[in-house]
Amino acid sequence: MEGFCEDLVTALKEVVSNTNWQCVGEKDNFKSPCTKFYSEDGQHVVLIHTGDDRFYAMDSACPHEGGPLEQGDIEELANGRMVLTCPWHDFEFCLNDGSSSSGLQNNVYDVKVYEGKVYIQTQNALSLVPWKETLCKQTAAMETVKLLPCTDKESLCYWASRILGTADPEEKAKLTHQVQELWNSGNISDIGQTLPPAQPCRKENLTIVQPGKIKRGKGGTLASRIALLHSLANIEQWAIDLSWDIIARFAGFQLRTGEMLPREFFSDFVKVAGDEAKHYRLLEKRLLELGSNFGALPVHNGLWQSAADTAHDLLARLAIVHMVHEARGLDVHPQTLQRFSAQGDEYSVKVLEVIYTDEITHVAAGLKWFTYICTKEQKDCLSTFHELVPLYFKGYLKPPFNSEGRKSAGMTEEWYLPLVKPS
Ligand code: FES
Ligand SMILES: [Fe+2]
Ligand SMILES: [Fe+2]
Repeated sequence: MEGFCEDLVTALKEVVSNTNWQCVGEKDNFKSPCTKFYSEDGQHVVLIHTGDDRFYAMDSACPHEGGPLEQGDIEELANGRMVLTCPWHDFEFCLNDGSSSSGLQNNVYDVKVYEGKVYIQTQNALSLVPWKETLCKQTAAMETVKLLPCTDKESLCYWASRILGTADPEEKAKLTHQVQELWNSGNISDIGQTLPPAQPCRKENLTIVQPGKIKRGKGGTLASRIALLHSLANIEQWAIDLSWDIIARFAGFQLRTGEMLPREFFSDFVKVAGDEAKHYRLLEKRLLELGSNFGALPVHNGLWQSAADTAHDLLARLAIVHMVHEARGLDVHPQTLQRFSAQGDEYSVKVLEVIYTDEITHVAAGLKWFTYICTKEQKDCLSTFHELVPLYFKGYLKPPFNSEGRKSAGMTEEWYLPLVKPS
């Protein structure tokens, strides 16, 4: 009988190791409700330990806008469902199946406790500390941008650098609209060259915290609507800078054919910059109407990371900023809209609808110039995109996708479905 038990244990151990069950440590080590595990493939996992001693696991990046679920609250809903609530905008995710009343869906993983140890079923190696950065930069593939100080006050690059160096967001938006007008009327016609700042300027009194440290109010309140509008205004301020940065940083970009980028490229991104400035102003106005203002709450600078990671590679910049992040903005629009309309905030709904319509054209601009460069350089557009995204974007793209919005931007499923985690 003793031998039989030993055989059984060995057999069980084999089953455990053969089915991608990863031991993550002693059960007693997981006293706190949430523990984050870093995954080798960038799809990090949160292990949840409930008060009644059960374990669950799901992706730690919120499927809404990537909020840190490991900092969320575990709650029991009136219907008895146990959920983890995201600290950023309060969407809840069922511990059993990852579903959410918002329509979003998170990935969940099976968890087992065996002989005092906790096992999570996943193919990727998990670690309590971040994996070494293995980002591979494709510098060889691209021409180096010539970085020269800009002295020509009539050039677009001079103004791009000046706007990036402007800390006050209202002033940044105002200058953007002035330069847009001057460019459109032909009063600024030279593109010029510049050395853009590594990071745009921000107002000194703006409280900047780590991306994970922003805690939003509970849903269904004025405070939570203000918090959401404030986080969107922060995104728009960064979006103004991202538009000027792509102009300034890649002004000297040469295609492999030796050609420079056509004027239309710069016109398109001046238009994007103008839209983002308009979005910032609309949101700031709405915040004032609701008794707040931009800067009243802490913000994070996480959005600039993608700009820094892709500063040397125009195709990567277009792919990550415009075809991944801005396209994700289209995906989350229906849930955000629902938040405001459920509370009867029709003015904010109108603002969000204006932003959404413009954002479709920004994804379209990214796609247009990505395919332009690939075609000129005789690269396959889709396979180049599918190779670049995993290099610069950690983790997989997450459904649900706003396929209608993406399609209006020209982004059909073959672009993004291959980047979803294989089931
Ligand atoms: S990022 Fe999680 S709810 Fe918005
Ligand atoms: Fe925008
Ligand atoms: Fe945008």
